[in-house]
Amino acid sequence: MSGAPVICIDGPSGAGKGTLSLRVAEYLGWHLLDSGALYRVIGHACSIQGVDWQDEAAVVKTTRGLDVRFDPAGDGVAVWLDGQEVSREIRSEQGSLGASAVATLPGVRIALLDRQRSLAKPPGLVADGRDMGTVVFPEAPLKIFLTASVDARARRRQAQLMDRGESVSLPRLLEAINERDQRDSGRSVSPLVAAEDAVHIDSSTLSAGAVFHRVLHCVAEKGFKPREPM
Ligand code: C5P
Repeated sequence: MSGAPVICIDGPSGAGKGTLSLRVAEYLGWHLLDSGALYRVIGHACSIQGVDWQDEAAVVKTTRGLDVRFDPAGDGVAVWLDGQEVSREIRSEQGSLGASAVATLPGVRIALLDRQRSLAKPPGLVADGRDMGTVVFPEAPLKIFLTASVDARARRRQAQLMDRGESVSLPRLLEAINERDQRDSGRSVSPLVAAEDAVHIDSSTLSAGAVFHRVLHCVAEKGFKPREPM
């Protein structure tokens, strides 16, 4: 594994990991890994290629041949598949379904390990996902496990979708989040669990700013310094 430090930010969908990871990465001037986007882009590539999300051998083949690029964008990462931007498509509800289906396949998770670890380059990496602290970067010096109630997460997801002009009812979102949680926590490989040495933060009643400040406290305790102003 590389010598660059890694901060892992794991937790269920909608707890605010994406916003937090981006802010921490910007504050430190470190690289950012949005591992959920990797699973999303694999699900999307399979749909384009007509590959069944359950067909492990075929999904692994698609994963190994993936021509994907991540570029920093204002509010996250822009994702390119085979030279076409797919940021919006992969973040739809269909994109969420595909990601959580392909993420249950052990061969896909193994195929992604090296790709994810290769991103741990100086000065450091902030890694956002489900198994960053338990499987991908078990030696990371700082691990955050960010949770929030299902209700708070469904409301945030609804606001996010509405911002993008998609409307989904709250009961439907609650059901989808519960299903996804069960699938993420109940799968046999890399289930969503907190690492033993993770710092737990419940964001249900905290603003994004308040969560960020708690994490900055942990960052400072580890001796990581903000990047020099340009
Ligand atoms: O984080 P995001 O919601 O974009 O992730 C989409 C899906 O990808 C999750 O529901 C989960 O099934 C899967 N995932 C995973 N391991 C990760 C990141 C995401 O299994 N490290």
